[in-house]
Amino acid sequence: MANVTVIGAQWGDEGKGKLVDWLSNRADVVVRFQGGHNAGHTLVVGNQVYKLSLLPSGVVQGKLSIIGNGVVVDPWHLIGEIETLRGQGVPIDPGMLVLADNACLILPIHRDLDQAREAAATNKIGTTGRGIGPAYEDKVGRRAIRVADLADREALEAKIDRLLAHHAPLRRGLGLPEADPATLLAELLAMAPQILPYAQPAWLLLGEQVKAGKRVLFEGAQGALLDVDHGTYPYVTSSNTVAGQAAAGSGLGPKGPGYVLGIVKAYTTRVGEGPFPTELFDEVGKHLGVVGREVGTVTGRSRRCGWFDAALVRQSVALNGIAGIALTKLDVLDGLPSLKICTGYRLDGQDIGYLPAGLKAQAALTPVYEEMEGWSGTTQGARTWKDLPASAVKYVRRIEELIGAPVALLSTSPERDDTILMRDPFQD
Ligand code: IMP
Repeated sequence: MANVTVIGAQWGDEGKGKLVDWLSNRADVVVRFQGGHNAGHTLVVGNQVYKLSLLPSGVVQGKLSIIGNGVVVDPWHLIGEIETLRGQGVPIDPGMLVLADNACLILPIHRDLDQAREAAATNKIGTTGRGIGPAYEDKVGRRAIRVADLADREALEAKIDRLLAHHAPLRRGLGLPEADPATLLAELLAMAPQILPYAQPAWLLLGEQVKAGKRVLFEGAQGALLDVDHGTYPYVTSSNTVAGQAAAGSGLGPKGPGYVLGIVKAYTTRVGEGPFPTELFDEVGKHLGVVGREVGTVTGRSRRCGWFDAALVRQSVALNGIAGIALTKLDVLDGLPSLKICTGYRLDGQDIGYLPAGLKAQAALTPVYEEMEGWSGTTQGARTWKDLPASAVKYVRRIEELIGAPVALLSTSPERDDTILMRDPFQD
């Protein structure tokens, strides 16, 4: 299959960045199709650490990188991220970075609203505070400013007026000062020359690349359980994070996404609020957090940690059409004497094999666990299947059985080369 779509199969932070970086080697084009700079991808290459939020991970390997129309773009952040990477010796220019001209912008008013709402809320979502939700609200409300508008002062002025008229009562209600249209216009016009060179009809370029036989890697952000439709609503992000969005968020047809690779952490984590049936509040939970260095790349918040939830990942496999998974951070389980895997839930005395949609039901679930022997040897840095302790192999095999998808790749450390390839997604 020519194209591969990489998505997080849990609540994000599964280690997508490393896998995308690794797979970039085999791809010609890397595309982001949803989310914004709420994502945090850490790539470790030798002794260099690259932290990306908005740029497709392909930029590090000099691949043609596309920020698709489904992404909400904070242009000032984008400029900053390009500068940081250039400072680390990664050349970025409009020849290899393309920004969809129909992508919507995240503006300072969106960040203000996101943060003020979270501060005022009694029932917080625990957002990244980067304006993602309010920007998507304006997109579906048909009043957003898009990349192409930056080239049209007249359109920009009219759009700003309309947008600020909508935001004025919201800001007032939250005690925020009124936003000044002239200031916003001046800020946008001052920034435009730095952004417009990257702007193109990305769908057109992508279609040409596919026709020319190029291999495309779609890079998902966040995770399937944070999807605005299929996730643990309302404790979700504001975009569709499932693999199907790769088509709509890039402008390629429904066959475009190709092989769907789900990235799955060998245990479970989540940041922010919301249900988490296998969450651990004991020493094991702390252990996972410390050994797994479970701190958010974007916000620096500690991630909540828990046992592997096979019911949840099974649901993700179905929602995304996952053909195979990349299992990450198995080494974090090294040394634990016994491990638990959640195979399903009990709800009101009944067995249930999926996460129900209602919040009350979600909160009332009791996980059903299967206990497995841990391993004393190390899996860290293993580069072949034979290097793994027998109990680790058993754990991986059981996961495959329970979720109904095979392991295509196993990642055994943050290092690019500590990856065991079982089957090549680009060949499958
Ligand atoms: P937002 O995307 O900033 O609106 O945040 C909504 C929810 O998604 C919060 O629970 C965030 O913690 C979560 N979230 C957003 N981006 C990521 C990510 O890249 N990894 C994990 N969680 C995320």
